[in-house]
Amino acid sequence: MPAVTLEFADHIAIIDINNPPINATSHAVRSGVMDALARIRQNPAVTAIILCCTGTTFIAGADISEFNQPARAPLLPDVIAALEDMPVPVVAALHGTVLGGGLEVALGCHYRIAHPATRLGFPEVNLGLIPGAGGTVRTPRLIGVENAISLISNGKPVTASIALDWGLIDQITTSESDLRQTTIDYARKMATQPCPIPLTKRTIPGTEQPDWDKLIAKTEQKARGAVAPVIAIKTMRDNLALPADQALANERQQFVSLREGEQSRALRHIFMAEKNVAKLPMVKGITPTNITIIGIVGGGLMGAGIATACLLAGYQTIMIERDDAALAKGRENVTNHLQGSLKRGIISQDRCDQLLSQLHGNTDYAALAPAELVIEAVFEDFEVKKSVFDAVARIIDSTAIIASNTSYLDINALAHSIPNPERVIGLHFFSPAHIMKLLEVVCTDGANPHTLATALAFARKLGKIAVPTGVCDGFIGNRIMSAYRKQCEYMIEDGAYPEQIDTAMTDFGFPMGLFAMQDMAGLEISWKTRQRQAATRNPNERYVALGDYLCEQGRLGRKTGRGWFRYDNAQSAPQPDPDVKRLIEQESARKGIVRRTFSQSEIIKTIIATMQREGDKILNEGIAHSDDAIDVVMVNGYGFPRWRGGPMFMKTNSPTGS
Ligand code: 3HC
Ligand code: NAI
Repeated sequence: MPAVTLEFADHIAIIDINNPPINATSHAVRSGVMDALARIRQNPAVTAIILCCTGTTFIAGADISEFNQPARAPLLPDVIAALEDMPVPVVAALHGTVLGGGLEVALGCHYRIAHPATRLGFPEVNLGLIPGAGGTVRTPRLIGVENAISLISNGKPVTASIALDWGLIDQITTSESDLRQTTIDYARKMATQPCPIPLTKRTIPGTEQPDWDKLIAKTEQKARGAVAPVIAIKTMRDNLALPADQALANERQQFVSLREGEQSRALRHIFMAEKNVAKLPMVKGITPTNITIIGIVGGGLMGAGIATACLLAGYQTIMIERDDAALAKGRENVTNHLQGSLKRGIISQDRCDQLLSQLHGNTDYAALAPAELVIEAVFEDFEVKKSVFDAVARIIDSTAIIASNTSYLDINALAHSIPNPERVIGLHFFSPAHIMKLLEVVCTDGANPHTLATALAFARKLGKIAVPTGVCDGFIGNRIMSAYRKQCEYMIEDGAYPEQIDTAMTDFGFPMGLFAMQDMAGLEISWKTRQRQAATRNPNERYVALGDYLCEQGRLGRKTGRGWFRYDNAQSAPQPDPDVKRLIEQESARKGIVRRTFSQSEIIKTIIATMQREGDKILNEGIAHSDDAIDVVMVNGYGFPRWRGGPMFMKTNSPTGS
C-alpha cells in the first residue's frame, strides 16, 4: 500500500496519506504528496483538493526516526510551500492528533475542517525542538501572537473547540458525520470562491506585543535548563520583525541547530525509551487477561491513589480496609482525589459521581471474590503483607493476579507464601499514584509471562509508563536513590553542606535537591527503617548518623519547621540552619574527618557517577532489562532532568555532565 494515494472524484482531488502508526511525514509521505500535487497541477478539471489521512489520526508530526539520518529531499517546508501555492483551494480533514509537522501541513492548506475529538498542537519543545516547517511563521499570522506563543512554547495540544475559537480551524463536524465527505462538500463550496491569500502572504493580526523580556525570563525559570521553549519564544520575537521568507529561513536554522544538539537527542532518546521499555520478548504474542474488576487492600496514601487511578481508567474497584473508620477515611481520600480531578477540569461533576459509584468499600475480604487483580497497599511490614496475601488468596480465583505495592520488601518471599505464586507480581506505584506516570512492574522469580503481560496491559490502561524490573531491595528507582543518597551523606561528612548539594542538583535541572526533598517527605520513615535494619547492618560499612540525630532532636522535616533546613512558615523556602551546620561539623570532627571543600561540579559528577555505577550493577544483575529502563525510571520518578536523557544516556552522550 503506497504511503500516499491520489484520486479524482467529480473535480475534487483527494490526497490520502496512509503511513501507520501516526501518519508521520516520513520521506515516502513527503515525496508522495509532492508527486500528487504535480499530477493535480496537470489536471485542469480539478477545482479543489482535500488532504486527509487513513487510520486513527491525521499527521501527528515529523518522523523522529529520520532525525538521526541525513535529511532527504523533498523537505517538509518545501512540501508545505507547494500546498500553499496550489491555484485551487486545499482543505485539510483533521482527526486524531494533529501535531508538529502535521499541524504545519494543515496550516499550509487553505482551510481546515476537524472532527470534534481532534487535538492540535506543537509538541516540538518536548523533543527539544521548535516547529521547523513554518509553525512559528504561519501560526501568529492566523491566530495572533499571544495564542501562537501559548501553543508553541508550552508543547500542550488544544481541543478542536479552542482551536475553532482561536481561528486555527474553520469548522468542526458533528461526531456522527463522515469527516471526509464533509470536507469534500466544504471544498466544493470553496471552489466557487477565490483561493484565500496564503498565510505567509498575510500580516499578523493585532499590534500588541507581549513583554518579551518578562516572557523569556518566566519561560527560562519554568524550563529549568531546557533551551527549546526559550528559543521558541525568541524565534517568534525575532520573526515578527522579518518578512515571511526570512522568518521561515530563521526558523529552519534554529530548528536544524536544535535537532543536532545534545538536548534534543536526549529528549528523543527518552521519548523512544518510554515507548519501548516494556516491549520484552517474554511477553510478545501473549494475550493478557481482560481485567474489569480490581481489588485494593488498604485505603491509605497509596491505596486511595491507586483506587483513584483505577476508577479514572474505568475499572470497578473494591477497597478493603481494616475497620469501618479506616474504610471511611479511604473513601474520603478517593473522593478528595476525584474532587481534585474535577477542579483541574479532567472530569465533570457527573463523571465524578459516576466514578464514586464504582468504588465498593468493605471490611470483609469475601467482597474481593470477583476481582481479577488485587493490589495490596497496606503497611510496609512483611508479616502484615503476608497475612493479607493469605487472606486474599483464600478468596479470589486461583488464576486471578495478586500484586504488592511494597517499596522494599521481598516479593519473591511473599509470592511463595501462597499457592500459585506464578500469579504474583509487584506493582510499585509512585505517590500521588493517580498522577505520577511511572509504575515499576516487578517480575517475581516465579511469575509467568501471562501474569507480566496482564500487569503491563493493566498499566497501559491506567495511562502509566510501565517499567519491568526484577526483585531486589528498592527495585530500580529506590535502589539508585539509596545509593546516591548515601554518597551525598558521605559528602556532607567530608566537607559539603546540604544547601550546597541541593543547589548543585537544582542548577543541574532537578526540581528539588535531595535534602529539601527528604524534609518534604518527612525524615522519620527512613529513620524507622534504619532502626529496623540496625541489627543486620554491615558493621564495616560507613554509616552516617546525621539523619538520626536530626530526628532525635524532633527535626522531622518541613512539617516540624526544622529538618536538614529551617522553615519559617509552611510556604517558606528551605533556609540553611546554623545548628545543622554545627551538628555536621561536630560529627566530622568526632569521626576524625578533616573537612574539605567540594565544588559544584564535583558534587554533580559524584551524584551522576553513583547513579551510573548502581545502574550498571542493576543491569548486570538482570534487575533492569536495559539502560533505557533506568533512564525512564529516573526521569519519571525522581526528577532527573528530562532534557539530559537520564543518567545512563549521559554515560555515553554527555560524560562531563556539563
Ligand atoms: N515519529 C516516529 N514514530 C513515532 C512518532 C514520531 N513523531 N510518534 C509516535 N511514534 C510511534 C511510537 O514510537 C509508537 O511506535 P510503536 O507502535 O512501534 O510502539 C507508535 O508511533 C504509536 O505511538 P504511541 O504509542 O505514542 O501512540 P499513542 O496513540 O499513545 O500516541 C501520539 C500517539 C499522540 C501521536 C504520540 O505518539 C506522540 O505524542 N508522538 C509524538 C508527536 C510529536 O512529537 N510530533 C512532533 C514531531 S517533531 C516535528 O513534527 C517537527 C516539525 O516541526 C518539522
Ligand atoms: P498508609 O499508612 O498511608 O496506608 C496503609 C493503609 O493500609 C492504612 O489505611 C491501613 O489502615 C491499611 N491496612 C493496614 N493493614 C491492613 C489490613 N490488614 N487490611 C486492610 N487494610 C490494612 O501507607 P502508604 O504510604 O499508603 O503505604 C502503603 C504501601 O505502599 C507500603 O507498602 C509502602 O511501602 C508502599 N509505597 C508507599 C509510597 C509512599 O510514597 N508512601 C510509595 C510507593 C509505595
